[in-house]
Amino acid sequence: MAKKNFTGEVYYPSDDVISKAHIKDWNELSKKASEDFLGFWEERAKELYWFDQWEKVLDDSEKPFYKWFIGGKTNISYNCLDVHVKTEKRNKLALIWEGENGDFEAMSYYRLHKETCKFANILKSMGVVRGDRVTIYMGRIPEIVIAMLACARIGAIHSVVYGGFSVEALHERIEDSQSKLLIVADGAYQRGKIVPLKEIADEALQRAGGIEHVIVVKRTGQEINMEFGRDMWYHELRSLPIANQDCALEVMDAEDPLFILYTSGTTGKPKAILHTHGGYQVGTYTTLKYVFDLHDEDRYWCAADPGWITGHSYIVYGPLLNGTTSFMYEGAPNFPYPNRWWQMIENYGINILYTAPTAIRGLMRFGDAWVKRHDLSSLRLLGSVGEPINPEAWKWYFSVVGNEKCPIMDTWWQTETGMFMITPMPCVPLKPGSGTRPFPGIEIDILDDEGNSVKTNEEGYLVIKTPWPSMIRTVYGDPERFVKQYWSKYPGIYMTGDSARRDEDGYIWVIGRVDDVIKVSGYRLGTAEIESALVSHNSVAEAAAIGIPDDVKGNVIYTYVILRAGVDPSDELKEELRQHVAHEVGPIAKPASIKFVDKLPKTRSGKIMRRVLKAEELGVDPGNLSTLEE
Ligand code: PRX
Repeated sequence: MAKKNFTGEVYYPSDDVISKAHIKDWNELSKKASEDFLGFWEERAKELYWFDQWEKVLDDSEKPFYKWFIGGKTNISYNCLDVHVKTEKRNKLALIWEGENGDFEAMSYYRLHKETCKFANILKSMGVVRGDRVTIYMGRIPEIVIAMLACARIGAIHSVVYGGFSVEALHERIEDSQSKLLIVADGAYQRGKIVPLKEIADEALQRAGGIEHVIVVKRTGQEINMEFGRDMWYHELRSLPIANQDCALEVMDAEDPLFILYTSGTTGKPKAILHTHGGYQVGTYTTLKYVFDLHDEDRYWCAADPGWITGHSYIVYGPLLNGTTSFMYEGAPNFPYPNRWWQMIENYGINILYTAPTAIRGLMRFGDAWVKRHDLSSLRLLGSVGEPINPEAWKWYFSVVGNEKCPIMDTWWQTETGMFMITPMPCVPLKPGSGTRPFPGIEIDILDDEGNSVKTNEEGYLVIKTPWPSMIRTVYGDPERFVKQYWSKYPGIYMTGDSARRDEDGYIWVIGRVDDVIKVSGYRLGTAEIESALVSHNSVAEAAAIGIPDDVKGNVIYTYVILRAGVDPSDELKEELRQHVAHEVGPIAKPASIKFVDKLPKTRSGKIMRRVLKAEELGVDPGNLSTLEE
């Protein structure tokens, strides 16, 4: 890696960074891993605890339903907590938390373990058993971490629904997962206001059956409805004798489900991506350790939300598996002022900051002075995730936030991959806007429609050719969709849904989604969810949604609506529809534009041609129109 002969604009790592890094020679590690990727992952798995060793690393006899660490017995919650509690890490801080209103919490591994056991016992006392689904709907508070770990401890499958989602999104996810218990907070603080989570949940529960009990965590303390016999306060349950601090742990098979997480796909409803105890822990543990180069003394902050995969893998599981001290912040980055983040980095001495381009662009808008007034010299590494980072934002992050000494780890991955797939490490030369190269042991390619590798710098479909431990196991409840969506365009090869190109140094540049997924502020939404929310309004007959590029959010949502006969278009109706989408899906899904139209461009088989709408909106060539209805 020392050779400085890369093309384009390159930032080479300093000798100081390399000398401190776990991995000093990327080429050597990558070569070793590609010669024997199973051996590479097996070595990593040995760094974690297993009640019983696996007999075989990979079973590909039923591909694409790959299985990892066959016969291995483990529990990710045990590796996150019990393992550390048995060592001198017991009193190390696992979690430091700051509420938007200034509340504060710090929890050692010892205490997080006890709290997890208490929560697990509460779940057990409510009849939750191994394999049951539990929906979790909360803001960024320590209890969300405890609830997830508690589910894992007793073998229940958690399904976390992002606190920014609203009634219909929550209803759909509760129903599809057939959860029997819901864990919800009364509310969440966001930009000085309260998001009424329990109220939203009450409305969702009127639509969904199946939930027997609701555990309510008090965060904001406003008046809420508590349904007798169904709803129980967590703080009251916590003080009962059933909430014992010791809780026997379920020994899980490596392939037993750990969680499902809903994400948007090309068509239809969001799908439940399934991850398992064994492979997922190996993938998240290893990638975080190598890429963010964790050292014992680090204070690490992933500013994502636990309700998305970034939070699952790199707020909850990855850091705890590594015995790291993680910081979590509840609220908005610019509340009450745009220096909130920089203030907290200074206050807590954060060493590693991992966030999304949209947040960087948003904070960049406020100017350098907000950053410069704080001492950010504790920062050692920076990270980016969720969408391509534009070079301008990269350079601002690098120079203003990182003071030109912190390499930026631009990590490309997905809910489905569970872990970083294309990413630098601190020892890797960086190019602003590129995630550089595949993680060791991962084979990535870029293909044309026929399945041939495209030439250097040509755009094509980004695919993954080797299985990896934390890969999606299936779409929960819909294995056919799993095969069709990911493995059917090129049989035996995983289709990511992204397009990309590879430059002369082998660096990969992800361009964006090739399907109907829209990334808004890094959040993944499907056109279908937004369209069905619009159509559920009694004024709307038909609707189409597309993503249009935006300087801060990456993309914003534009929609086209055909009104029902007799309904008059008006600006008031537009606003009502925007609010309706926010109420049904969530504020992130609110359309930036609504246009009333008489017709939508469709194929002869009736599919909406969103690319035609997009081309028209952007004033570009719509491409091949031979399938257009008229
Ligand atoms: O389009 C890619 C984009 O986010 C998609 C995955 O979204 P989700 O499952 O919500 O997971 C986001 C967090 C891992 C990808 O298909 N994406 C993610 N990271 C990057 C990215 N695009 C470019 N660069 C990235 N670093």
